[in-house]
Amino acid sequence: MYDADDELLTRTHAIRTYAPEDFEGMRRAGRLVAEALDMIAAEVKPGITTGRIDDLIRQFTYDHGGLPACLGYKGYTRTTCTSINHVVCHGIPGDKVLKDGDIVNIDHTVVVDGWHGDSSRMYAVGQINPRARKLIDVTYESLRIGLEQVKPGNTFGDIGYAIQKYVEGQRMSVVRDFCGHGIGRIFHDSPNVLHYGRRGEGAELKPGMFFTVEPMVNLGKPAVKILSDGWTAVTRDKSLSAQCEHSVGVTEDGVEIFTASPAGLFRPN
Ligand code: MF3
Ligand code: CO
Ligand code: CO
Repeated sequence: MYDADDELLTRTHAIRTYAPEDFEGMRRAGRLVAEALDMIAAEVKPGITTGRIDDLIRQFTYDHGGLPACLGYKGYTRTTCTSINHVVCHGIPGDKVLKDGDIVNIDHTVVVDGWHGDSSRMYAVGQINPRARKLIDVTYESLRIGLEQVKPGNTFGDIGYAIQKYVEGQRMSVVRDFCGHGIGRIFHDSPNVLHYGRRGEGAELKPGMFFTVEPMVNLGKPAVKILSDGWTAVTRDKSLSAQCEHSVGVTEDGVEIFTASPAGLFRPN
């Protein structure tokens, strides 16, 4: 995901639409990132470090003909983002050891033949408490509800509105400082895909648009702050935060999810 303010300055060009044959490129990139996130599911257990997770995903990606898109991106030195508990996004993998009861988002982006596949999921470490479970469930449901709005003729505002309405109805909050983005041959492209908004606002969805939807949901208030490492975003009130992300394309009559899990492991058990 991307910093919304930064992008308002730079991401102002028209929204690209891709040709029908370009969907195949996105399918291959989306499948690889999904397979990497499937592979790591069995490894996310108490005792593993986030650095080890990152190493396994990087190796898997290279072994299967992909390149890690985040490695070297704006000076980022890792392959994935690993965001634990009150970390909203952009947690940097390292020596941190996962412990029973943690929830962790793993966000990975690959490049295959120039096409980007960007996805993230939540993973439950051992036994998690009911509040954490509920947060994860609401986050996944918000993505599903947002994607239900993806069809020609609807607008980006319809997606954001649907997500916000559902999440706030569950007495949780949607993070405003980061958003989804156009994707394709470019990692972070126009438009900003906000996870809040008003019906009918924003650009109209057209067949061949490729973008991510990646809502971040907090148990507490939506405000975030960035730690001194320049990347790690945490909730200001230290409440738990969760996220999930798909890369999708608009079809003639709806949506194609490029990053669906071949093994059915998109949601944690
Ligand atoms: N994968 C993230 C996204 O969803 C981007 C992470 S950029 C990084 O857009 F540099 F922090 F890795
Ligand atoms: Co993204
Ligand atoms: Co991502």
